[in-house]
Amino acid sequence: MAKVYVFDHPLIQHKLTYIRDKNTGTKEFRELVDEVATLMAFEITRDMSLEDIEIETPVCPAKSKVLSGKKIGIVPILRAGIGMVDGILKLIPAAKVGHVGLYRDPETLMPVEYYIKLPSDVEEREFIVVDPMLATGGSANVAIDSLKKRGAKHIKFMCLIAAPEGVDAVKAAHPDVDIYIAALDEKLNDHGYIVPGLGDAGDRLFGTK
Ligand code: PRP
Ligand code: URA
Repeated sequence: MAKVYVFDHPLIQHKLTYIRDKNTGTKEFRELVDEVATLMAFEITRDMSLEDIEIETPVCPAKSKVLSGKKIGIVPILRAGIGMVDGILKLIPAAKVGHVGLYRDPETLMPVEYYIKLPSDVEEREFIVVDPMLATGGSANVAIDSLKKRGAKHIKFMCLIAAPEGVDAVKAAHPDVDIYIAALDEKLNDHGYIVPGLGDAGDRLFGTK
C-alpha cells in the first residue's frame, strides 16, 4: 500500500505560507517553489541506499559511504512541475529529467496528454514525478500511467499541496507509488481548485493570466 508523507519541517511550512499568499509576485513565488523543492528533495532522498568505499583521508585509510543503487529520473508534469526541477537538481545533479505534458480540460477537469519524453533507460531508474498541485489526482494518475506503460517500475510522486481527494485517487490507482506532500489541504472547490491552496500554480509560476 502506498505511503503518504506530509513534510512538517518548519522551513517548508514557512515558505509555503508565502507561496500561498496571493500578494506574493511571480519572481518571489518562483524562488520559493525552487527552495521548497530543494528542501523536499532532501527529505525524499532519505531512503537512498549507500555503500562503503575505501578512501584515504589526510590522516589514514578509511571506509566511507557513497550513494549506490538506482539512478534517479525527475519527471515534471508540464507546465507547473518545471518550477520544482532545478530545486531538486541542486541536490541530485546527476539525475536525468523527463517531461510529461498534461493540461486539465476546464470543462471536464480530465487531463489531456500532449507531450512525453523520458530518459532511454526507463526500467533502470527510480522516478520522482513532480507537480506543485495534486487536486483531483487525474494529472498525476495519467502521468504515472504513462511512465509505467513505458517500463518504469519505481515511482514516487512529490507535490507542494494536495487535496485529500487527489491523495485517495493516486493511492487507489497506484498503490505502489509513495506520495510526498508539503501540505495536505482541506478540500477541492467546485472548479477543482484546492482550498485554501495557492490558486493556479502554472499561472503564478509563469506570470500568465
Ligand atoms: C495543474 C497542476 C496539475 C493539475 C492538478 O495543471 O499543475 O498538473 O492542475 O490537477 P488534477 O490533480 O485535478 O489533475 P493545469 O492542468 O492547470 O496545467 P498547467 O500546469 O499547464 O497550468
Ligand atoms: N491546479 C492548480 O494549479 N491549482 C489547483 O488548486 C488545482 C489544480
